[in-house]
Order: sequence, then C-alpha cells, then structure tokens
Amino acid sequence: DASDIEKGTYPHYMLKEIDEQPLVMRKIIQTYQNEQGELTIAPEIINAMNDSDRVYIIAAGTSYHAGLVGKQFIEKIAKIPVEVHVASEFGYNMPLLSDKPLFIFISQSGETADSRAVLVSVKELGHRTLTITNVPGSTLSREADYTLLLHAGPEIAVASTKAYTAQLAVLSILAEVTAKSRNYTLGFDLVHELGIVANAMEVLCDSKELIEHISREFLSVTRNAFFIGRSVDHYVGLEGALKLKEISYIQAEGFAGGELKHGTIALIEEGTPIIALATQESVNLSIRGNVKEVVARGANPCIISMKGLEMDEDSFVIPEVHELLTPLISVIPMQLIAYYAALHRDCDVDKPRNLAKSVTVE
Ligand code: G6P
Repeated sequence: DASDIEKGTYPHYMLKEIDEQPLVMRKIIQTYQNEQGELTIAPEIINAMNDSDRVYIIAAGTSYHAGLVGKQFIEKIAKIPVEVHVASEFGYNMPLLSDKPLFIFISQSGETADSRAVLVSVKELGHRTLTITNVPGSTLSREADYTLLLHAGPEIAVASTKAYTAQLAVLSILAEVTAKSRNYTLGFDLVHELGIVANAMEVLCDSKELIEHISREFLSVTRNAFFIGRSVDHYVGLEGALKLKEISYIQAEGFAGGELKHGTIALIEEGTPIIALATQESVNLSIRGNVKEVVARGANPCIISMKGLEMDEDSFVIPEVHELLTPLISVIPMQLIAYYAALHRDCDVDKPRNLAKSVTVE
C-alpha cells in the first residue's frame, strides 16, 4: 500500500515509525490471535520449538539486540535454553551445537548477508530454521523452513524502531504459545499485557516535548554518552547507544551496571552524560548505586525508571507494564532521545552517513 510509505505531515520517517509502534502492537496482537482470542502460531513452528533442546538466535544490529531480549522470553516463559549470536561472528567460532538445535534468524529486511551466510551453513548441516522478518518473500524467509512475520509495515528510516518492538512482541508470543503447548502455567495473560504495552507506548509517544528537553539538556554538547542498566535494561541500553551512534554520531556505549567498575568508569569526566535505565525491581537499588558512583566522579545522570520504582532524582518515568515486557516501552525514550539529539545536531536523521538500511554484503 503506497500510502504506508508516505511521510505525511512527519518531518522524518523515523518519527513516523516511532509513532506507529502502538498501532503495530495492536496489529500484531490481532494477527496472532485466533477466533477464541488465544494467541496462536503455526503448529509446525511450535513443534520445531518443542523438538529442539536449544535455540540459537542469529542476527545483526538492532535485530541482535532484540535477540538478547528474546532469549529472556524464551528461557523464562518457554524454558528452552537459548544462545544469541552476532551473525558475522558465528562462522568463525561456531559453538559446539546441541543435539537438536533450532536456529532463529531475526532480520527486519530478511536480506542481511551475514545472517544469510549462517542460514546457508546450518541448512547444509541439516538443522531446522525459522526466520522472523518484516518482509514476506525476503531471502531469509524463502530459504528458512518457517517464517513469522512482524506486520510492522514498511520501515524506511535506516535506524530501526518499530521493527525492534515488533520483533520483541512476536518473540514473546512465540515463547507464550510454546509454553502453553507444554502446559506451563504462566501467571499472566499475554494478550492483556501486550494491550497494556500498546497503551503505554501511546503515552510515551505523547511525551515528546519532555524527551526533546531531556535530549537537549543531556546531549546537545557532548562527544560521548554512556547507557547503563542491569538485566534486560542492559540490553535496552545497548540499543539506546546504537540508536544514538547511528543517527547523531555521538560516541555512545551501553554497559552492564556491574561492569562499570571494571574499566569504563575511567572514562567518566565532569559532565559525561550517563543514561541509566531502572525498570526492574530486582536491580533497582544496585543500578542506583552505579548512578551514585558515576555522579561522584562528575557524570551528568539521566535516570529513566518505571512507575512504581521511581525516585525523586529521576528524569523520566515510563508507565508500568509487566516486568518481562519493559524493553518494549523503555526503548521508546531511547529512540526519541536519539532522534532529538540528531535533530539538534542537524544530522540527516533518516539517512545517516555510511549506513544502509539493509546490508547485502558480508
Ligand atoms: C543494517 C541496518 C541496521 C539493522 C541491521 C540488521 O546495519 O542499518 O539498522 O539493525 O542492518 O538488519 P536486519 O534487516 O537484518 O534486521
């Protein structure tokens, strides 16, 4: 549908695609539901999950970051062990594979050559493969045994946004449907929780002014920035750093809170921006301890927390969602912070230098 790829009144595709996330979420919930309102996935895919003793997720860039969160979903909900690998590295040091591996390729475009190279080599070994992609008929979709679609609509901006949250939603559904097929008690209703996520996304998309202000305050004059978090917040921090690097050219890195003291803290100077995520109750106090350590060395902290865990010093509070699903919404302030940082620096938001939307060379 050509109207899908018009910018309309938006100045950039990236902003339009960020704003589409609540809609995409609702579309995914709807598409993956059966007439009884239950989440459903093709039985052959669920059988492949159940037949496997270990899942290997292969991806690049933002899709790799989605894979890190996906591992948590599959391990915690479906209780199948998962390894996540950067596609371009997998070939050099192929891990010792389990007896019955299932390979999941996560790729927005379905065309990434690094991921395809792995697909070709594991197919030669006779292993089963599933592609999670936004593009029906893409190379990775055609060549894998099975496909799950993201239904996110065309993503035009080079920096991936709605595809990431769509990948997380589809991975959570895959984990849930697998768990149900194994008669595991979940203790939550994923359809309901993803609905809460969609509403929370809307609230965040309506908070642009505050995030623009935060971005200006923390990132308008800096060479670098650090993102810290523990547990899944660390993975969202990696994605936040990647977004910022890609479009604003600020040197940004994501670190695990506990790892700071083992090296990175040496980089903290007067005014170094530190973006800290605090969405997990179990690590709330320890990440705040890390913030104190960097503040004591002069850092300029921006704490993004989840409702219920917030403290006075926090810059931004995201609405409460199920603790497993926080990455689906905590990433939105990361996307918007990067967007406004790029705008303030007059960067070409949709077409950053040196990058391509899909990289079809190894
Ligand atoms: C390129 C894009 C990234 C993307 C990565 C993986 O490097 O610039 O935004 O995350 O490829 O793309 P894929 O289509 O496989 O998800």
